Amino acid sequence: MIIAIDGPAGSGKSTIAKIVAEKLNFRYIDTGSMYRSVAWKSLQKNTALKDEDAVADIASKVQIELVPGNNGQLVFVDGKNITDQLKVEEISRGAAIVAAQPMIRKIMTTKQRKLGKQGNVVMDGRDIGTVVFPQAEKKFFLDADPKERGRRRFIELKEKDQAKNTDLSIIIEQIVQRDHEDRNRKIAPLKQAKDAMLIDTTFLSIDQVVKEIIKTINPSS
Ligand code: DC
Repeated sequence: MIIAIDGPAGSGKSTIAKIVAEKLNFRYIDTGSMYRSVAWKSLQKNTALKDEDAVADIASKVQIELVPGNNGQLVFVDGKNITDQLKVEEISRGAAIVAAQPMIRKIMTTKQRKLGKQGNVVMDGRDIGTVVFPQAEKKFFLDADPKERGRRRFIELKEKDQAKNTDLSIIIEQIVQRDHEDRNRKIAPLKQAKDAMLIDTTFLSIDQVVKEIIKTINPSS
C-alpha cells in the first residue's frame, strides 16, 4: 500500500507522515529531503543551482539514502550523514530552485517510484498523489494558515538553534514566497489531487490529524 501525504511547508505533513508510518509499521519517505540533498550536493560542488544540466548530472549520480533514525529519517548523501544541514534557509531556497527544473524532477520521480515499489510506504511531498503515485491507495492533502505554518517553522528552527536573528514575520514571508513558487511552477505544481482528502491542520493537534488519517485508512481501528 502507498499512502501519499502532500501539502505546503509547515502543514505538518512530515511530522504526521512519520508517526502514521510508525503506527502502521510502514516505511516513511520524506521526498523533500531528496530535493534538499540535490541542492546541498550542488552547493558543495559550487554548481549554480539554475544550471539545469549540471544539477541534473549531480542528481543522477548522487547516492541518497534515507534511513529510519530514532528521531525521524536520517539522510546520507554519498555516505555522509547530512540530516542536520538540510533544514537551513539556504537549502530550503536551493531545494525550491532545483525542484522547479524538469530534468531534476524526472530523476527524483524515478528514484521515488523505485522506493515506493518496495511497498507499504508513507511518502510525503508536493506531488506524490498527483504525479509520483497517482494510483496511491490513500491520499491526503494537509494545509494550514500561513501564519500558523510560519509559527511552526520558527519553533522548529529555534529548537535546532538555527533561528539565528530571524524573526517570525520574515519566516512567514519566506513560507508565503515558497508556497507561491511551489504552487505556480510549470511542472508538478503543489496542488491537491482530486481524490485526496483535505485536512486543514491550523487548529488541530498532531495527534488529532494522525487519528483522522489512521481512521480513514483503517476504519475499524
Ligand atoms: O518538504 P520540503 O520543505 O523539505 O521540500 C523542499 C522543497 O522541495 C520545496 O521547495 C518543495 C520541493 N518538493 C517538491 O517539489 N516535490 C516533492 N515531492 C517534495 C518537495
